[in-house]
Amino acid sequence: MAENRPLIKFAPSILSADFSRLGEQVAEAAEAGADYIHVDVMDGHFVPNLTIGSPVVAAIRPWTNLPLDVHLMIESPERHIRQFVNAGADIITVHIEACIHIHRVVQQIKEAKVRAGVALNPGTPLHAIEEILPLVNTVLVMTVNPGYGGQAFIEEVVGKIACLRADLDAKGLKAELAVDGGIDSVTAPIVVKAGARVLVAGSAVFNSGKPVGEALARIKASVQ
Ligand code: DX5
Ligand code: ZN
Repeated sequence: MAENRPLIKFAPSILSADFSRLGEQVAEAAEAGADYIHVDVMDGHFVPNLTIGSPVVAAIRPWTNLPLDVHLMIESPERHIRQFVNAGADIITVHIEACIHIHRVVQQIKEAKVRAGVALNPGTPLHAIEEILPLVNTVLVMTVNPGYGGQAFIEEVVGKIACLRADLDAKGLKAELAVDGGIDSVTAPIVVKAGARVLVAGSAVFNSGKPVGEALARIKASVQ
């Protein structure tokens, strides 16, 4: 029944947007009913690819009132939190694999008065985040190995999403369960059924050959 359906949020990833008109693309995604704008920051070390830094976050900030969800795929993320907060980030997600002192990094993000997220690569088990689960606002389960847009969804991660959903519910924790990588109208229903509540999608929103509004509507329809 409709009233039992969980609320699903949508976070278009601008990694697959037209960078020559990023502001407009952000505004289009907001107009299409996005809940967050997902910003992928890569350093060429933690992941093989290089993307953007805080000046781009600052540049898109005036284009939307939606929360900017900054996904840091970088080494030593603690060195860069302040600059992304100053640029206008609302959510900062760091990788558990990149943080020796994850507890301290989460504290640092929360002290900066933004929401804290922790991300897990497909090969990282859930128990790696067990101790900080009560402290984070978001858990981002990667459904591809991070580094590039347009990669194929990794089916094996679905079991991990279901385990995390069960764990959060059993502990009464309110952290948002987000998924990132290979999400489209085919895989969205699979991850939602497993327990995901925030869907990050890049190429399926910005690179589908259809207008952004139509592309996002198609993903939304697949889970409604
Ligand atoms: C992958 C990034 C993703 C990426 C998703 O490393 O973290 O956010 O933009 O792109 P798609 O949806 O094309 O897999
Ligand atoms: Zn991402």
